[in-house]
Amino acid sequence: MSDYHQPVLLSEVIDFLALTPPGVLVDATFGGGGHARALARANGEHRVVGIDRDPDARANAGDLEVLEGDFGDLDDLLDSSGIGEISGALFDLGISSHHVDEAERGFSFHSEGPLDMRMDSTQDLTAADVINTYSESDLARLIRTYGEESQAKRIARAIVAARPIETTTELAGVIAGAMPAALRRSGHPARKTFQAIRIAVNNELESVRRGVDAAIGRLGVGGRCAVISYHSLEDRIVKRRFADGAAGCDCPPELPVCACGRDPELRLVTRKPVMARDEEVEANPRARSARLRVAERARAA
Ligand SMILES: C[S@@+](CC[C@H](N)C(=O)[O-])C[C@H]1O[C@@H](n2cnc3c(N)ncnc32)[C@H](O)[C@@H]1O
Repeated sequence: MSDYHQPVLLSEVIDFLALTPPGVLVDATFGGGGHARALARANGEHRVVGIDRDPDARANAGDLEVLEGDFGDLDDLLDSSGIGEISGALFDLGISSHHVDEAERGFSFHSEGPLDMRMDSTQDLTAADVINTYSESDLARLIRTYGEESQAKRIARAIVAARPIETTTELAGVIAGAMPAALRRSGHPARKTFQAIRIAVNNELESVRRGVDAAIGRLGVGGRCAVISYHSLEDRIVKRRFADGAAGCDCPPELPVCACGRDPELRLVTRKPVMARDEEVEANPRARSARLRVAERARAA
C-alpha cells in the first residue's frame, strides 16, 4: 500500500485524533488508506469511514468502509450512509503519489501523459479543456490566482500561441520556454502552473471550503477536525475557518454590551501549523510543504 502513497505527519495525526470521543472518524481523503488504517488501529472505539473521489482509492479499502465522492458533498455522503454526528475528521489535501506516478492521469510534468488531471475520472472537465479552450486572460487569471505565479501573463500567452497542446511534457516545455532565464528559480518552472490547472480542473478550493465547514458542523463536543494542506491557498481557507469558529463575540464595536451571546464553537488545538520533522522530510520530500492544523468543537452545534 505504501507504493500507492506514504502518509504524511502520521504520528502527529494519530496523537491529535486517536483520543477523540468514541464514534465515527471520517478520513475524507482516503487515498492509500495509510492514515485511516493507523487511526482504526489506534482506537478500537472509533469506526473509521473513508471518502475519496478517485475510484482507484477503493481498491485500498481492505475491511474499512470507503465512500466514493467529493468531500465537498460530505453532508450528502454521510447522510446517505446514515451517519450523523462524528468524533473527528481528517483532510489530507491534494493528490496522492499514485496520481503523480501514473503518467496517464496527466498530473506529472516529468512523465509524458494526456492533459487530464481529473481526480475523479468520470467528470467531464479535463486539463486539456482548460489549456486548449480558455481565453488568454482567463488562463492568466487562473495561473496567477491558483498558482501564485508571477509570470502568469507570459505563460498564458505562450500557451495560447502553442495550441493545441496535447501532453503534459509538451505543456511543461511551453511553460519553461516562457519563463525569463533570470527568473529560473528552484524547482521546476511548470510546478506552479500545473498546480493552478489541477486546482481549477478539480474545483479544489471550493471543495475544501465546503468539506471542512460540513465536518465542523457534524463534530460532537470534543470532536476534532484535522487538515493537512500543501500550499498557502488551502492553508488560508482552513486557518480562516478555524479562526472564525474560535472567535468570541462578534457584535459590532459600537454596541455598548454584547448582544450576540456567542460562545466560540471551536477551540484551536494548534495555534501554529504543525510541520514535519527533518527526518520525515528527508525520508519523504512531499512532507516538506505539509502544514497540519487541528481544531476541536468546544460546544454543541
Ligand atoms: C494526499 S492523498 C491522501 C493520502 C492518504 N491520507 C493516505 O494516507 O494514503 C489525497 C487523496 O484525497 C483525494 N481527494 C482530494 N480531493 C478530494 C475531494 N474533494 N473529495 C474526495 N477526495 C479527494 C485524492 O483523490 C487522494 O486520493
